[in-house]
Amino acid sequence: MCGIVGFVGRQQAAPVLLQGLSKLEYRGYDSAGIAVFTDKNNITVEKCKGRLKVLEEKVDGGKSIKGEMGIGHTRWATHGEPNYINSHPHVGGTNGSDNVAVVHNGIIENYIDLKKYLQTRGYNFVSDTDTEVVAQLVDYFYQSTNGNSMEAVKKTINKLEGSFALGIMFNNDPEHIYAVRKDSPLIVGLAKIGNFIASDIPAILPYTRNVYLLEDKEIVVLTKDNVAIYNIDGEPIKKEVYIVDWDVSSAEKGGYEHFMFKEIMEQPDAITETISPRIKNGQIVLDDVKLTKEDINNLDKIYIVACGSAYHVGVVGKYIIESQARIPVEVDLASEFRYRSPIITKNTLVVIISQSGETLDTLCALREAKRLGARILSIVNVVGSSIARESDDILYTWAGPEIAVATTKAYSTQLSVVYLLSQYLAQQKGEMTQKDTDELLQNLQLIPAKIQDMLKNCTDIQYLASKFYNAKDIFFIGRSLDYAIGLEGSLKLKEISYIHSEAYAAGELKHGPISLIEDGTLVIALATQPRLYDKLLSNIKEVKARGAVVLAIVQEGMDTASEVADYVITIPKCDPLLAASLAVVPLQLFGYYVAAARGCDVDKPRNLAKSVTVE
Ligand code: G6P
Repeated sequence: MCGIVGFVGRQQAAPVLLQGLSKLEYRGYDSAGIAVFTDKNNITVEKCKGRLKVLEEKVDGGKSIKGEMGIGHTRWATHGEPNYINSHPHVGGTNGSDNVAVVHNGIIENYIDLKKYLQTRGYNFVSDTDTEVVAQLVDYFYQSTNGNSMEAVKKTINKLEGSFALGIMFNNDPEHIYAVRKDSPLIVGLAKIGNFIASDIPAILPYTRNVYLLEDKEIVVLTKDNVAIYNIDGEPIKKEVYIVDWDVSSAEKGGYEHFMFKEIMEQPDAITETISPRIKNGQIVLDDVKLTKEDINNLDKIYIVACGSAYHVGVVGKYIIESQARIPVEVDLASEFRYRSPIITKNTLVVIISQSGETLDTLCALREAKRLGARILSIVNVVGSSIARESDDILYTWAGPEIAVATTKAYSTQLSVVYLLSQYLAQQKGEMTQKDTDELLQNLQLIPAKIQDMLKNCTDIQYLASKFYNAKDIFFIGRSLDYAIGLEGSLKLKEISYIHSEAYAAGELKHGPISLIEDGTLVIALATQPRLYDKLLSNIKEVKARGAVVLAIVQEGMDTASEVADYVITIPKCDPLLAASLAVVPLQLFGYYVAAARGCDVDKPRNLAKSVTVE
């Protein structure tokens, strides 16, 4: 994870770097630092433990370091605890000569071997990080090539194993920033005020929409007037400029207290943006999917592979695709899939789901599936991300930038794409008629308005959050699709409020979890599926009999729930297959209000980061 930024241009670098880092804090916020090539003709490093605001204060908003070129970093600690010494930038050089400054996102897997080697060559290390090894290695090659920066960078890259996005400056070079990536995101921004590198687009958006998307091991050399890109053999590469089509306001809070709340509120529009272009004259049109009818009819299995909330979308997808398209679906956590010898044939489709398109486990799972011969269809939010680029077919979610660590609108748009994909597969296979498709599409198109209605009045949820914000444990139960929604509701709650929470398939309660129910334990029972409603009511009675307080989430018209549950939240009536899209909303709000009531940092929960680019 971690966020990196670099700038060389015609104005003071430090404030620009700090501004860029403020947009990357979602990637990690254990410590922050900048290195600026100062007017005194050397690199000055300022860094500190903690949030970016501590650094901002330390450098007086950037005013205390003068210079027009620099690199910056916001850290999510992997190697070494979050402290001053382990903060980036790291410097390289023997005998206290800080010849090189480096910021890094990723993990250098062979750093111990490299460190030992460098120690035998007179290099001393002060931090526990893998990154310091990169800084020292660059210096080592810089010395051994008689000060050839490009050669030093190339040789360094060839020695590194693992993942990296790097920004590098040399102490005797006031004009150039070097940058390179492998399996960690990095873009180049081309602005009037100068040129940038950054882990993500929001960092440069106040200055430019023109970016280069980099491939692995492409080396970028930035000056204030020029960006040159080379392959690992040092040959120049020509790139197309990609023009970002969303604006700064999408990545700003816009008057809301938290990004998470803003993003919850944006869900109706995000879903509309995502589904509308794919419904034309009553037909599902998946322009970016090249699977033919024959391919679909030959599919022997679908794997849905993802992490976190995207995995929960996959769990919904399994229920839906199996029931509609009658294709066997396995849902896998990417971190498990990639190491478990999955059985893949040429007729296996692997559906990858990822907001960022950069989650390392998911990316590696994609590569493993590809290596084994699967066809890859990805559902991704970030255009041009690694997962998007390495997939055979892409379905973009058009959620816009999502900043809060806990996903909401990306989850909802992923769900809506899964509905379209499932119906499309079913229709191509002849499992569904045009009439079925018409109905589903009509119902799907009503979802944004229904969510909008739910969002107009959040007072019930707010009240419940104020009642239970001090709970020790909260359980979610449900069957089938309701179980899948419970998984997401539970994750939302625990990740931002730090309340212990679990989601169980309601039928499994009797096999263990019911022993955890005590007097007053809150159980959130999802009962939106008419065919399983009565079974859920029985499960509610079972936990009530053990002292639980129950909040039931049901569809309009399921009135008997109020006879057994203590509290009932009603979602608008909908096709049961689409209920996840509505039922997740009160759960997102519940998590949000509980976390806010507890005074938690809703958008930046402890220990987490949004884009998980390490294993
Ligand atoms: C992190 C985020 C989650 C996200 C997961 C997978 O844990 O906080 O919101 O679901 O990563 O990320 P991806 O970008 O692949 O969807």
